[in-house]
Amino acid sequence: MTMTDDGFALPDGFLMGASTSAHQTEGGNTASDWWAFEQLPGGPVAEPSGDAADSYHRWREDMDLLAGLGFNAYRFSIEWARIEPVRGQVSRAALAHYRRMVEGARERGLEPVVTLHHFTSPRWFHESGGWTGPEAVDLFAAYVRTVAPVLDGQVRYAATLNEPNMLALAHTALRQGAGFADFRTLEPADYISEALITAHRTARETLHGLLPGVRVGWTVANQVYQPEPGAEDVCRAFAWPREDRFLEAARDDDWVGVQSYTRTRIGSGGPLPVPEDAERTLTGWEFYPAALGEAVRHTADVVGPGVPVLVTENGIATRDDARRIDYTAAALAGLADAMRPGGSDGEAGENTAGSGGVDVRGYLHWSALDTYEWGSYGPTFGLVAVDRETFVRTPRPSGRWLGEQARAGRLAVR
Ligand code: BGC
Repeated sequence: MTMTDDGFALPDGFLMGASTSAHQTEGGNTASDWWAFEQLPGGPVAEPSGDAADSYHRWREDMDLLAGLGFNAYRFSIEWARIEPVRGQVSRAALAHYRRMVEGARERGLEPVVTLHHFTSPRWFHESGGWTGPEAVDLFAAYVRTVAPVLDGQVRYAATLNEPNMLALAHTALRQGAGFADFRTLEPADYISEALITAHRTARETLHGLLPGVRVGWTVANQVYQPEPGAEDVCRAFAWPREDRFLEAARDDDWVGVQSYTRTRIGSGGPLPVPEDAERTLTGWEFYPAALGEAVRHTADVVGPGVPVLVTENGIATRDDARRIDYTAAALAGLADAMRPGGSDGEAGENTAGSGGVDVRGYLHWSALDTYEWGSYGPTFGLVAVDRETFVRTPRPSGRWLGEQARAGRLAVR
C-alpha cells in the first residue's frame, strides 16, 4: 500500500463497491413492519416505498451494472419479512432467491457483503414486542439459522444488524411518542441498546457455530462527534450511549462496519446546529467529507487492534453529481490517510492496525442505486440513477469515476 503521484495504491484484495438494503430497493416488502408503518393513516411517513427500485426482480441488472463499472463487491441485505412472512412459516422461494443473489454476485466477480437485518423486521416480530420482546434474541437467532444456507460457502462477510445505534434511537423515539423527532438530542434507552447487543452476540455465535468461514460483524452509524473547546467531557458522555457502546460491543467481532456521512459538533450544552453558512446536502446534513477518515480512526481507536474495518456506507444525497465526485474524492483522501501507517506524516508500509495505519479491508459507497430514503425518494444517493416510472437504470459519471479506481486498484487521491 503506497502513496504515489498516481494516487493511493490499494492493498491486495481490497473491496471496492457499493451498498443497498432490501427494503430500500426491492419494492413490495409487504410483510415488514416498515411497510405497515408507511401505510398508517396520518402517519409520519410522507411517501411509501411502493415498488422501490424493483430490485427484487432486477437484481441481476443491478449486479451487471456494478461489475461493469469495475467494482468487485456489493453489499445488500436479506429481508427477514420475506424469509419468514408469518412466524414459523419459512418461504423456501425467498431463501432460493437470496441464494441466487449470493451466487449471482460471485459469478460476476462481486464479493457479496450480506446484511442480515437492515432496519426492517417482519410485522409479526414487531407486534410480538420487537427487539425488547421476551423472545427477540431467540427469534432472531432462529432466523439466522434459517438463512445460514444462503451464505454457506459463498459469503465471507456477514453483518448481523445495520446501525444498531440508529435502531435504538428509532425505538426510543417511537416509545416516547416522538415519531421522527430530533435524533440529535434523544438518548437511546439502555434496555433497547442492551437487547440489540445481546441479539448481535447471539447471532454471531450462532453463525460461527454453523459456518466457521463467515466473518461476522455489525455496521455502526458514526456521527463524528467533535467537541468545541472545553466540551470534551460532554462530548464523550454524549457519544457513549449513541455510538461508542456499540463499537465497544464489536471488540470480539471479526470485523466492524463504518458508516459515515457528516459530523456533529458538540458544545457544552450538547449538539450544535449546522453552521448557517455551511453547504448542506439533500438530507440537510453538512457537506463534510473529512468525516470518513475521522470515523475510521475513531472506530479503530474504540474497537482496538485485531478487528479490521470495512467502510460499509459513505456517500452524499445530491442532485449535482459533480458534487458527489468532490465529496467522495475528499472522503477517500481521508480514508487513504487513515490507512497509511503514521497517518499524514508516515511512511508507506504494511497496512496493520497498531502500526498507525488502520486495517481497512474495503470501501462500499452508499448507495449503488437511488433508493427509498426512509420516507422519501427525494434524497438521491445513487452512483446509478433510477427512473421512478420505468425503473431504467443509468450510471452516473460518479459511478464511472469510482469504478475506474476500483478497476485500477488505486484511489485517485487529489
Ligand atoms: C442507513 C441507510 C440510509 C443511509 C442514508 C444509513 O443510516 O443504513 O439505510 O439510507 O444511512 O441516510
